[in-house]
Amino acid sequence: MPKIIDGKATAATIKAEIKQEVERIIATGARRPHLAAILVGHDGGSETYVANKVRACEECGFQSTLIRFEDDITEEELLACVARLNSDTDIDGFIVQLPLPRHINEQRVIEAIDHRKDVDGFHPINVGRMAIGLPAFISATPKGILELLRRYDVATRGKKCVILGRSNIVGKPMSQLMIQKGVDATVTVCHSRSTTLKDECRAADIIIAAIGQPAFVTADMVKPGAVVIDVGTTRVPDATRPRGFRLSGDVDFEHVAPLCSAITPVPGGVGPMTICMLMLNTLAAARHEYYPA
Ligand code: GUN
Repeated sequence: MPKIIDGKATAATIKAEIKQEVERIIATGARRPHLAAILVGHDGGSETYVANKVRACEECGFQSTLIRFEDDITEEELLACVARLNSDTDIDGFIVQLPLPRHINEQRVIEAIDHRKDVDGFHPINVGRMAIGLPAFISATPKGILELLRRYDVATRGKKCVILGRSNIVGKPMSQLMIQKGVDATVTVCHSRSTTLKDECRAADIIIAAIGQPAFVTADMVKPGAVVIDVGTTRVPDATRPRGFRLSGDVDFEHVAPLCSAITPVPGGVGPMTICMLMLNTLAAARHEYYPA
């Protein structure tokens, strides 16, 4: 049977490490790291993500501030809030939860965030610095996946890694990180227009699935002994569950897992690591690790 890569347990360990470090820096007279989150509207997924981020702040000993707006907020009002947070010396880092309502230009909002407080790692300065191997805030999901691969001793050097999905948040940064020196994988990125996707997957030592289609990766696409990382968290209606849905990954876990040497479950795999990496980025922001004050 495969090794189950336990993101929930790993995230708990890292959060305990962060909390210890926070108490240590507070003892030196520093104030608590402070993360702010802007949430626009009432999307169920976003509500859950932001609530989990606020809870993670408490677990790590951080201060957190949640700023809510209705979904009829104008772009100007949102940009004004971003500007306020940029200049608020009490805030170390902040995020604007995505997606935003259609009438707001998401890219304009991302680029308005001071890159030194961009703990999501979405600002082009952070994206560009990460791509050329300079210190930068790195998007939390790919950073968390890299951390899981490291902590579970998954060999990456010279291995063939196939990434499914080319999003700015996961697929693209993941591909950059996997080719960096020290990680040293050979990377193929597949997307909705790829014609050889199944063949690429069958040849892969590591598959990272981030396309948001439940059970897209089936057993016939996976080489025996491969490592499979599942980023998918699609809500699928399920009347037997208390909340009326269950989370489905991008991988047909039941049939794929027996083939793998290691695999992440959904839930409890990549998801908890993502929030934990946001906490690490916030700690780094508080300590001016990437951008000296
Ligand atoms: N929406 C989905 N994932 C993310 C994330 O990592 N950060 C933000 N801000 N919004 C998201």
